[in-house]
Amino acid sequence: MKFVLPKGRLYKDSVDILRRSGVEIPEKPERALIWSNGRDEFLLSRAYDVPVYVEHGIDVGIAGSDVVEERESDVFIPLELPFGKCRLSLAMPRSKVVSPEDMDGFRIATKYVNVTRKFFSRIGVEVEIIKLHGSVELAPRVGIADAIVDIVETGNTLKANGLVEVAKIMDVSALLLVNRISQKVLFEEINSLIMRIRRVVYGT
Ligand code: PRP
Repeated sequence: MKFVLPKGRLYKDSVDILRRSGVEIPEKPERALIWSNGRDEFLLSRAYDVPVYVEHGIDVGIAGSDVVEERESDVFIPLELPFGKCRLSLAMPRSKVVSPEDMDGFRIATKYVNVTRKFFSRIGVEVEIIKLHGSVELAPRVGIADAIVDIVETGNTLKANGLVEVAKIMDVSALLLVNRISQKVLFEEINSLIMRIRRVVYGT
């Protein structure tokens, strides 16, 4: 099978849970983006791209629900995993707090353009979205945005940048993703993997 693993904060827990479920993942050779145990292949991708790889043919992946929601990827999601817990929130400078309903005409910096657009259209508020690829907390500090939509885990990054949460948009967790065709073609193998992971995670 082919697995795509997320770079960054989910990497260690992802490797750990798969290993504990019986997938033999060798140490990644330095700088390699693809490596193998002689039977399975492992790919290392930006966390943001994992659902895209799975949608387009990689059998199994692990990604955050924030990214799956943003990418609107058509993948099978058999399990929520017990790590990567955080939330996607709307935040703004402490000194200028208003409620989301009063943000008409505001500029919102985020890498979650789709989720943000949907959130504001649900409440009937028109905003301008500025797409950034990271460190979005910077945008309100330097005045190019009024608010941000970003991941909050401990809240330390917001605090350090004088920002406060004004609304939680969604709870986030790591998810197991399976390619829809692989799920049918490799049914036995994938089903067995899902059951082994479920046993490790939930003990059932
Ligand atoms: C994420 C997120 C926030 C921070 C939140 O950034 O974008 O900046 O973590 O965590 P906290 O609430 O515990 O402070 P990450 O380090 O993943 O990098 P990024 O800025 O490239 O998204």
